Amino acid sequence: MPIYLDNAATSHPKPAGVLEAVTLALTEDNANPGRSGHAAALRAARRVLRTREAVAALLNAESPLNVAFAFNCTDALNLAIKGALRRGDHVIASQLEHNSVLRVVAALARRGRIELTLLPPRPDGFIDPDDVRAAIRPNTALVICTHASNVTGAIQPVAAIARVARAAGAQFLIDGAQALGGLPVDVQALGCDLYAFPGHKSLLGPQGTGGLYIRPGLALNPLREGGTGTDSDRLEQPAEPPERYEAGTVNLPGLAGLGAGVDFVAPRISQIMGHERELTSALTEGLRRIPGVTVYSPSEEAARAGIACFNVGDLSSGEAADRLAAQGIAVRGGLHCAPGAHRFLGTLQRGAVRASVGHANTLDEIDALLAAVRALAQSG
Ligand SMILES: Cc1ncc(COP(=O)(O)O)c(C=O)c1O
Repeated sequence: MPIYLDNAATSHPKPAGVLEAVTLALTEDNANPGRSGHAAALRAARRVLRTREAVAALLNAESPLNVAFAFNCTDALNLAIKGALRRGDHVIASQLEHNSVLRVVAALARRGRIELTLLPPRPDGFIDPDDVRAAIRPNTALVICTHASNVTGAIQPVAAIARVARAAGAQFLIDGAQALGGLPVDVQALGCDLYAFPGHKSLLGPQGTGGLYIRPGLALNPLREGGTGTDSDRLEQPAEPPERYEAGTVNLPGLAGLGAGVDFVAPRISQIMGHERELTSALTEGLRRIPGVTVYSPSEEAARAGIACFNVGDLSSGEAADRLAAQGIAVRGGLHCAPGAHRFLGTLQRGAVRASVGHANTLDEIDALLAAVRALAQSG
């Protein structure tokens, strides 16, 4: 494996406990959770429950029942958006959102189902809660904002936006894809109604996992109907969470691994955040010192998740990322599925290079990337 600095796409490496939990779920505990009553099925169901409890505790959710599992963050965002909206609703979403939000709301708007306002950030790259307030309409039903930009890492003022949404009687959905596991998150203190997250990024679980926090009392329309192993004599989807949102067999190996990932992250979240901040500061400060390099991430440490976004001279971001890959350094060029963020940065044509750190990266690896970028900037 190269020097892996692509953790915002998916985290690597996964802790040993994650690999063990996946293996156990595919061997000794391999049965359908929540369906049959034999011992292996009960063990499988306990694994899923344990993961739900661990994620709920990490989020400070009111109850594990307020966490619905999904297949990735995109799936969770689709459930939140399509499940919360009615025809004629107005939605405010930040321009910094990932396509897993933008394409969903754009499709609903195109079909005439909703009215949509896309809110640009201030020149400093942060969404202004006053701009959200000014965009509110009588029919505003949902406000959506990413917790941290997946392009620049800028941590958005989500608690202040939540207060604006609440005062307007709108639901507030946070996309936590670049936050949960890397930053402390308390959904009750934030005051959000919905918080979507992937399992395979900073929570260190396998791909094919994710979930949605749904505040108590809020019932969404499910994305899918089907078997839940409960209320099987009725043709209606169960009303109760989380079964209401989890039709079909869940991803047992993935969720078992996710539980182990959360067990790894939860007790050391401040340590992980401190480590990632130290690495990202070293990286952004080092990059700023290289002539010809443009850095797009915020300079203030506390305003930034573990992402450094930059370009080298006139090189396209794809070319720069390919040259770094050829030297054994894995980063990501292009648009990172967030065209609005790149439009704001003026990088819609060439994209940008994104280096994203994780718990296992070291300062030596950051130095290696800086040396490679320095060489790239000199060679042009
Ligand atoms: C901000 C943001 N939202 C949503 C997603 C989608 O996550 P997933 O790939 O788990 O669907 C990503 C993925 O990179 C992201 O960075």
